[in-house]
Amino acid sequence: MASGGRWRSRSALRSLFLLVTLVLNIKLMLFIFGPEEPAVPPRNLTVLIWHWPFYRPLDLTGDVCADLYNIKRCHLTADREKYNFSDVVVFHHVELVKEGQVVATMARPPGQKWVWATLESPSNIRGVSKWNNIFNWTLSYREDADIFVPYGRMVPRSSPNTYNFNRTGMAAWVVSHYKKTQERAQFVHELSSHLNVDIYGRANRRPLCPTCLIPTVSHYFFYLALENSVHRDYITEKLWQNSFTAGAVPVVLGPPRENYERFVPSDSFIHISDFPSPKDLTKFLLTMAPQRYRQFFRWREELEVKLYTDWRERFCMICTKYTSLQQNKVYTDLEGWFNKSDQQQ
Ligand SMILES: *[C@@H]1O[C@H](CO)[C@@H](O)[C@H](O)[C@H]1NC(C)=O
Ligand SMILES: *[C@@H]1O[C@H](CO)[C@@H](O)[C@H](O)[C@H]1NC(C)=O
Ligand SMILES: *[C@@H]1O[C@H](CO)[C@@H](O)[C@H](O)[C@H]1NC(C)=O
Ligand SMILES: *[C@@H]1O[C@H](CO)[C@@H](O)[C@H](O)[C@H]1NC(C)=O
Ligand SMILES: *[C@@H]1O[C@H](CO)[C@@H](O)[C@H](O)[C@H]1NC(C)=O
Repeated sequence: MASGGRWRSRSALRSLFLLVTLVLNIKLMLFIFGPEEPAVPPRNLTVLIWHWPFYRPLDLTGDVCADLYNIKRCHLTADREKYNFSDVVVFHHVELVKEGQVVATMARPPGQKWVWATLESPSNIRGVSKWNNIFNWTLSYREDADIFVPYGRMVPRSSPNTYNFNRTGMAAWVVSHYKKTQERAQFVHELSSHLNVDIYGRANRRPLCPTCLIPTVSHYFFYLALENSVHRDYITEKLWQNSFTAGAVPVVLGPPRENYERFVPSDSFIHISDFPSPKDLTKFLLTMAPQRYRQFFRWREELEVKLYTDWRERFCMICTKYTSLQQNKVYTDLEGWFNKSDQQQ
């Protein structure tokens, strides 16, 4: 009787264990979205890049999309002479604004799609409303953009999991544009009265060369991944690169925790709103047992980070979505759509 009961409870325990493992795995799998093999368009597509983002041209010799990103039948060009033969023309917002409204009146070959591209948040760009009724598709970090291009994403681990726990500093923050009035500056100010925060960047007269950032941050337990503005899905390289790639645990300020959890495992980051005050957060950071700290690295057993940093890859991604997108779409209220990211959820 007793042993039967024990057996039953043991088997119940085993079922529970299996269930928990299954749920955990499904949870991990959820971050792996998008087809691994990109969709191949039925014919060769030509994507014309109207302006190079920030006027920084990149090399387009060879079959760039196929050679670098395994995206086939996708030809990128920056040659405006090819306008009449382009399936897609992509306009990056910053330069578009500088060049003015003339492009809006250009005659369009039938079926050609115009893509509005930006990776900036609504707080960082201006003049979007002038571009209503012009664009067919959007390319952005917003998950609901036609071409969703995040700053990074979780993919199944393919390379060995190499990181160490050799840390000498507590928390690091890298900032280039520092404004005292910003929420994040006030947060760091409060935090640093309880915690040792090393601040790098031009603003603080401690510049870091671009290749020094990752090695520097990798000596810290925590990285303050504070977004410059709070908008849905606006989760930038501050999380993906400065924290995850460097191997420091991110302390994030940005959209709500649930929004982060759409893209990364819940135990890969610390959200400042998990704590009632910076003081409580500091207490958690300072008193964390090594065991707890290691838990923030568990996702790395199965997942790794893929960064999206090259504009050519972002533009090649237009081709992978081309056939699945609505073909006769028009953004009548582009700014309204873009502003919608302010609504949390
Ligand atoms: C499509 O592009 C590939 C190179 O990417 C080229 O070899 C092939 O000839 C093209 N096909 C057509 C029909 O233009
Ligand atoms: C595209 O075609 C239009 C109409 O056929 C023509 O007026 C225009 O000059 C062409 N543009 C280029 C860049 O070839
Ligand atoms: C740990 O980091 C310190 C400081 O960067 C370095 O001097 C030391 O050699 C490292 N130790 C190991 C075991 O990597
Ligand atoms: C793209 O948008 C323009 C401007 O609103 C519109 O005139 C055109 O029909 C759209 N093109 C396609 C292929 O849907
Ligand atoms: C979008 O947001 C900006 C800045 O908050 C505001 O000025 C503008 O009126 C908004 N536009 C729309 C269409 O909601």
